[in-house]
This record gives sequence, structure tokens and C-alpha cells, in this order.
Amino acid sequence: MADLTALDLFSCIGCHAIGFERAGIRPIAFCEINPRRQREIERLFPGTPIYDDVRALPPTKADVVFGGPPCQRTSVAAAIHGRRTGDSLWPYMLCAGLDAGAEWIVVEQPPGNKAWETKVSHHLSRAGYHVARLVFGAEDVGAPYPRRRVYIVACASLSRLEIAWQSLPRAIDETKRAADARGDWDPDQLASISVDARSAGEHVPEFSRERIERIEALGDSNPPGMAEVIARCIVSSYQDGPRP
Ligand SMILES: C[S@@+](CC[C@H](N)C(=O)[O-])C[C@H]1O[C@@H](n2cnc3c(N)ncnc32)[C@H](O)[C@@H]1O
Repeated sequence: MADLTALDLFSCIGCHAIGFERAGIRPIAFCEINPRRQREIERLFPGTPIYDDVRALPPTKADVVFGGPPCQRTSVAAAIHGRRTGDSLWPYMLCAGLDAGAEWIVVEQPPGNKAWETKVSHHLSRAGYHVARLVFGAEDVGAPYPRRRVYIVACASLSRLEIAWQSLPRAIDETKRAADARGDWDPDQLASISVDARSAGEHVPEFSRERIERIEALGDSNPPGMAEVIARCIVSSYQDGPRP
């Protein structure tokens, strides 16, 4: 199997990286600005470098650069609240990908902003990448809640990208079966956490800031199985198999 490495941007509490590792892609560095979230990454991946700010990231070589730039100015929610300006840290992510010499750049976002996606895809094409758009949901990998995400998957090699794209149904199936085997979504094993505003402590002073931030971080996170699906697609393109 190819020994692939990933530079994980906007790492939050490391859910993308957990998924990569399961699929055989090794995270070699993280970039996350929130100190509490950094501490969780350090706990999960001790000793792996964590950089603070994508705007000041030193060049870091990696095969895959993966991340979901914050979408507070690009999402459907932003549009509903009249705050969709299109501002994004995406240009810094693109620079990180180019500095990394990455064969793959993967951008994760909620659905609902075609114009932004088109801009990102255009930038990637201009930088010499071939681009595919993969869409699936947390429920597809067994999560008991809906959470659809768009993955703009860019690869310097068209044939690898085609293999990765064709692998999606199998990668989803394998990820779900692995999660079922581990009991990831088994109600008897899940430690449940209420995420409504009241239990998040917004109206309950005795709930700590730490608890609120923990719930916010979970809300920002896709289940690791979603990144695992993408990573399995990428890994599959390095194995012998029928070429399209
Ligand atoms: C929406 S979260 C991405 C989580 C991802 N979807 C997942 O499933 O793990 C975006 C993250 O980017 C971080 N962030 C915001 N500005 C940043 C910056 N300038 N540099 C690095 N990270 C930043 C935020 O703290 C947040 O944890």
C-alpha cells in the first residue's frame, strides 16, 4: 500500500485525521487556531506538529492536503442571516496545498453554495489539478442523524482521480461495515450528549465554558467515517486494479 501523508487544515478536534488514519493515510501536521481544540488533537496525535494559523503556515510537504475552511461567510446559514459575503480562508488552503506539493487537495463544505464551489474548482483547475465533486452524508456511514457534505476532490493525476471517484460506493460500504463491526453507532455503546441550547448551557450559568465549547466542537465535526470514505477512495487509486 502507498505510504501516504496528510496535512490536516482547520483540524477542529481531529475527526478528519482519525478517518485518514483508519484508511492508512498518516497525518503529519495539523493547523487549528483554537487552543482547546489543539489540546484535543495533541491528546489524539501526541507529538504531531500543530500550527496555529493557516495564514502563517510554514511550507509542509504532504501527499494530501485536506480541510474544511470555516464557512461562516459562505454557507446557507450565512445567506439566511444576510452574512454571506463569500469571504473565506480558502486562498490560504490553496497556498498550503501548492507549498506542500500535494498530489491531492480535498476541500470539505456543507452543500448550498454552488458559486463558491465553482470558484474553488476553478482555482484548482488553474493550478493544474483535475477536480471531482463527491457528495454523501453521515447517515451513509451509519450515523443516526443527517449531515450531508460536499467534498471537492482535486488530484494532479486524472487517472488516479477517476479511480478514486469510481471507488466511492465501495468506500462508503466498507466504511459503514467497519463502523458497524466496531459498534460505532450502537446505542448501547454511545455516550450520548444533548446538544440543544439549554443543555449547552447558554441559559444555565452553572454549565462551564468548557462544556459549551466541547458541544460546539462536536457540532463543527463530521464523524470520522466521512473523511475515512474520502481517504479510502484516495488509497484505492494507488492499488493495482482496472484502469478506466
Ligand atoms: C468547521 S471547523 C472544521 C471541522 C471539520 N468539518 C471536521 O469535520 O473536523 C473549522 C475549524 O477551523 C478553525 N479555524 C478558524 N480559523 C482558522 C485559521 N485562521 N487557521 C486555522 N484554523 C482555523 C476553527 O477553529 C475550526 O475548528
